[in-house]
Amino acid sequence: MTLAVRRAALTIVAVLPIISAAVRAQDAARQPEAGEKILTAACQSCHDSRHVDTQALDEEGWTKVVKGEIARGAEVKSDDVPVLVDYLARYHGPLPEGPGKDVVLNICTQCHDLQRVRRTRLDAEGWAEILDTMLNEGAPLTEKDFAAVLRYLARNFRP
Ligand code: HEC
Ligand code: HEC
Repeated sequence: MTLAVRRAALTIVAVLPIISAAVRAQDAARQPEAGEKILTAACQSCHDSRHVDTQALDEEGWTKVVKGEIARGAEVKSDDVPVLVDYLARYHGPLPEGPGKDVVLNICTQCHDLQRVRRTRLDAEGWAEILDTMLNEGAPLTEKDFAAVLRYLARNFRP
């Protein structure tokens, strides 16, 4: 081995642990967070996630739901309750009141969660384009729902 080749080899060996640590960190980032794991384990034995996806509640609201579901038989350790409630309040938090909210909760949750909606900020024209795309994807939006949800999104999720 020439010196240059040996140096290159040594460099690769030195860099490998850094790369694998980075890959591990990415894997860790892809892991579901603690609250999501609790939700999957405790909340999907009796019904699917629609009951959760179609709610938009704050911490107090979710605390009530979780207590009620525990009374119904959901198994959540008491230490896990705040972790679950925190997760629910972040991912299924309150949405502004108003006509169209029910459409968002019932229709826009059928193919993806509402994080896509929550993180988007557009004017009416932009939202109309998104809704047209969703229609093409197969979203079952009536004309009446389309108008209501467009007004709701343009008012509450504007730039
Ligand atoms: C032991 C069975 C069981 C488990 C486990 C369970 N649920 Fe339920 N849940 C029910 C039943 C029964 C209903 C009533 C509606 C139905 O029949 O689907 C319900 C309804 C709901 C509703 C709708 C309430 C409403 O007023 O519309 C929400 C929200 C909900 N569950 C959330 C959860 C969450 C969050 C968990 C986990 C902590 C959970 N559930 C675990 C049985 C269960
Ligand atoms: C029939 C399935 C379906 C329904 C129902 C649906 N969507 Fe989507 N939505 C999709 C798909 C698939 C994508 C990803 C499209 C893409 O990435 O190009 C998407 C992506 C999005 C995005 C991200 C677009 C972007 O470019 O960042 C938004 C915002 C969105 N949907 C809003 C909504 C709203 C609002 C509703 C309710 C009116 C809704 N969706 C209902 C299938 C659906």
